[in-house]
Amino acid sequence: MSNASFIVVANRLPVDSVVDDEGNRTWRRSPGGLVTALEPVLQANQGTWIGWAGVAGPAPEPLETDDGVTLLPVELSEDEVLRYYEGFSNASLWPLYHDAVEPRQFRRSWWKSYYEVNARFADVCAREAAQGAVVWVQDYQLQLVPGMLRERRPDLRIGFFLHIPFPPVELFMQLPHRMEILKGLLGADLVGFQRPLAAQNFLALTRHLLGYRPRGHYVTVDDRLVRADAFPISIDTAYNEEVASSERVRQRAKEIRAELGDPETVILGVDRLDYTKGIEQRLKAFRELLEDGRLQVPNAVMVQVATPSRERVEQYKVLRERVERQVGRINGEYGQVGLPAVHYLHQSFDRFELSALYQAADVMAVTPLRDGMNLVAKEYVASRVDNRGALVLSEFAGAAGDLRQAFLVNPHDLTDLKDGFVTATTAPLDDKMKRMRAMRRYLRKHDVSRWARSFLTALGVPERSAAYNPGSPPTGD
Ligand code: ADP
Ligand code: G6P
Repeated sequence: MSNASFIVVANRLPVDSVVDDEGNRTWRRSPGGLVTALEPVLQANQGTWIGWAGVAGPAPEPLETDDGVTLLPVELSEDEVLRYYEGFSNASLWPLYHDAVEPRQFRRSWWKSYYEVNARFADVCAREAAQGAVVWVQDYQLQLVPGMLRERRPDLRIGFFLHIPFPPVELFMQLPHRMEILKGLLGADLVGFQRPLAAQNFLALTRHLLGYRPRGHYVTVDDRLVRADAFPISIDTAYNEEVASSERVRQRAKEIRAELGDPETVILGVDRLDYTKGIEQRLKAFRELLEDGRLQVPNAVMVQVATPSRERVEQYKVLRERVERQVGRINGEYGQVGLPAVHYLHQSFDRFELSALYQAADVMAVTPLRDGMNLVAKEYVASRVDNRGALVLSEFAGAAGDLRQAFLVNPHDLTDLKDGFVTATTAPLDDKMKRMRAMRRYLRKHDVSRWARSFLTALGVPERSAAYNPGSPPTGD
């Protein structure tokens, strides 16, 4: 047994290992909102982070970051990447938990691999954790870990947080091995979700599938009380404001607008290239607005940043082709020489460039068909230190529960989506500033440190170690 007293277990480490042709290893920030949110929390708690380094094959040696976080890589074989990660996690669970906006696939061999990899994470954690340590397990890839860990180490305090939506009973019931998954989650002392409805779905399932009798937020499992509740995740607001206020970002934002031809309206999308994000619907809405003449190039242009993601999973390959074809079509029909209608960037950027893009955008389009939270929406608001800009936000993003002054749209309804863009573009400045100020105020109070503190306090971790000092900006860029 080792002496780690605060451990995060997540499928991914905050950095991916990259090995060049000469065999030299470097580290690159991992994609996604989970890493963005947890990085500052780990730094504040000087914890240990157990996760996969993003490449198949033997795990790299453990390492310590400059901020005193210990990273403990877990090995995944090529076959496990295929079955556990791309298969059961991202072709079965991911679409099903996102309201099946794309068809989910099930294969028996994927489940076996999911089980084995979850057991490996539990083994590594059981070996590393100090007596009575706090272990915080993250997300849909590791739903069996709480139960497996409790079997191995009943002395631990175990929390679980699901970053994505938790489906309603009818959808969850489709899942092969649904009982095992539910029991796996119930191994935790506290199961956290983004929204209250997700916690209710979970508690309803314990009754429906296992015959338990949940009361309020609690359900009794054997002789233990398990709590299920909502803890909406957030961002490091102070850090986002700090970056956005820097001279470097301010200058770069001006440059970006100039590079775009100084249009009246810049509409921006920043998403992982994922079918849940509604990128196709957004592009279609923009094309129709150009067609209808309600928006015109070069007065209005769109910038779509689409971070490469899960590129070997079939649905992601198909999505990329469709999005790129659509961008080509819009530019073919509405672009001008040197002035494309849509600027499409299939790349990752550092925090400064992202912040400058946010600041250069008059309208931020966050229009997922379904999303657990969506941190991009929160980053945009926090980055508008000038109180300008407008957020068009899907009602189906968890963030809509927090950012209530956004221009809310139903992305499944193209007319509503189009109207949302036009309203956000043409709203009077004082209305937009009032909305932005209110949302910024909310995020200042409800930042990621508050999220972590409320979760860990509910888990019974003393306030002192749950605290996080927002003065220290995350590294990694
Ligand atoms: P998800 O977790 O589904 O990817 P979120 O919106 O919650 O969605 O989180 C995405 C995170 O990834 C944000 O912190 C955002 O800043 C970051 N991100 C998105 N696109 C890029 C990009 N092209 N380069 C760097 N970071 C990105
Ligand atoms: C979402 C998930 C995370 C995941 C991230 C990036 O935020 O909730 O668990 O890490 O997407 O996806 P990836 O498959 O690249 O880890």
